[in-house]
Amino acid sequence: MRGFVPLRQTLAEQIAVSVDQIFVGNGSIQILDSLTHALFEPGDTILVERPTYDRTLTTFRRAGLHVKGVSLDGDGMNLDELEAAIGAHAPKALYVIPDFQNPSGVTTSLAKREAILELAHRHRFLIVADIPYRLLRYEGEDVTGFREVRAERVVELSSFSKLISPGIRVGWMVASKAIVDRVAQVAVDTYISPSMLSHGTVYEFLRRGWMPDNIERLKALYGPRLRATLAALSSSLPAVARSHPEGGFFVALTLPEGVSGEQMCQLAPQEGLELTRGEGFYADVDGSRFLRLPFCALREDEIREAVSRLARVLERTKA
Ligand SMILES: Cc1ncc(COP(=O)(O)O)c(C=O)c1O
Repeated sequence: MRGFVPLRQTLAEQIAVSVDQIFVGNGSIQILDSLTHALFEPGDTILVERPTYDRTLTTFRRAGLHVKGVSLDGDGMNLDELEAAIGAHAPKALYVIPDFQNPSGVTTSLAKREAILELAHRHRFLIVADIPYRLLRYEGEDVTGFREVRAERVVELSSFSKLISPGIRVGWMVASKAIVDRVAQVAVDTYISPSMLSHGTVYEFLRRGWMPDNIERLKALYGPRLRATLAALSSSLPAVARSHPEGGFFVALTLPEGVSGEQMCQLAPQEGLELTRGEGFYADVDGSRFLRLPFCALREDEIREAVSRLARVLERTKA
């Protein structure tokens, strides 16, 4: 069971691949779980960006995989570290969130995408590119996707969670037919069939031509929120290093040396803030100075207020 056929056909037509290469499931994180069981064995090594999406780490660890992080620079993975990790661990796959990464907001440059693809071919590992934020760009120019540069050895995961609703639970994968077949077998053995009602709902949304307007609406809503976040950080926390996202849901801070996220999380409620600890996003090193700021759910006035409270929390850590 590979998902509702009309929806698979629509997606295949949109990106000009064969329908055999499209798998639609109940959200992309469950597809990642099925993919993990279909392709990898306990003890296999998977490389990830450091930091990366925390649920992906949980998915890989639960399957007994050895997860190794590679530092993320402002334009994607550090290539020297990546080459060293490939040499040391002979990975089966590399998992990457190339556009407006969760949790850092970083986008991988085209030059790095090409270099990573080259390494994947030379060392025969798979690239799993997770792209749920790709269409939510508020500034700058699109960067060509891994699959569009060279489809071989690339599995692409995407989702309607950020474009329609997370509760609808519809995600999709583009891969070779052989991989789709293996994932479909795991999926059938796990949940028999995805929710056809949700798949039909998404199909109808696309068939009616609602998606382009919806994406414009989301960009018009979130773009000013990103700009408000960056402006508030520049004025209230000018000395704190941060990412420079051009889309997506997240901006990330690197807290000053000597300040821990744990301290910040403990003090935040005194300013009426709730912060998430950074450690959960790190595969194998301390991520305690990392702070993710999700800006999409707040209005611009709330963002300005939240960032000035954040600055006060930082002051409190020095007291
Ligand atoms: C990078 C990434 N992958 C996957 C997901 C989950 O997507 P879905 O709701 O389709 O399972 C998220 C949601 O936050 C995400 O940020």
